[in-house]
Amino acid sequence: MKRIVVLISGGGSNLQTILDNCLSGEINGRVEAVISNRPDAYGLVRAKRYGCEAITLDHKQFTSREAFDEQLQATIDEFSPDLVVLAGFMRILTPEFVQAYLGKMINIHPSLLPKYPGLHTHKRALEAGDKEAGATVHFVTPELDGGPPILQGKVPILPKDEELDLAKRVIAIEHVIYPKVVGWFCEERLTLAEGDVIFAGKTLQIPLTL
Ligand code: GAR
Repeated sequence: MKRIVVLISGGGSNLQTILDNCLSGEINGRVEAVISNRPDAYGLVRAKRYGCEAITLDHKQFTSREAFDEQLQATIDEFSPDLVVLAGFMRILTPEFVQAYLGKMINIHPSLLPKYPGLHTHKRALEAGDKEAGATVHFVTPELDGGPPILQGKVPILPKDEELDLAKRVIAIEHVIYPKVVGWFCEERLTLAEGDVIFAGKTLQIPLTL
């Protein structure tokens, strides 16, 4: 069974789907710890309910990004994880930190990358007049939201959609695709080799889609 550490900053609905899938056996793994950079993140309550370590590492207590990331790395490493899952962890990471978990750290982003890296993805998709939106799970590399994509979930954009309508539709697909990818990783069906995603023994030229 693989050892998982999840990093969060907020509500943790993606964390919840991963916890649920670990409990049901869909994911052959156990979440050993949840670490939040915000003390009031509701995801910490979810972690306690599940019965794993729920740790706050408040970035405001650190004088630099480097100092925070060093302490974050030390905290993660106490749990010797096979996989580090970023689930709404709203921090830019130092290259040193990313390098330490290359091929072992994944992120979910609420857009069809490479479209709309960064913030306000739904607003940008609506303003551009896009007909579809979605979410992407990718390996984390030093480039912000630029690591090789693994799986994308697509949803339609409907004519009367406001930002909140789209956000609800996208997060629902996130809850489907993220536990799937975590499950694949834990079954050793997914690796990163020289910048390429290898899934079930084959190099992915384009991300898988749902
Ligand atoms: C999710 O929509 C996730 O894709 C996004 O934050 C939300 C977290 O929700 N992540 C990013 O924007 C990272 N760049 P949750 O706390 O309910 O899982």
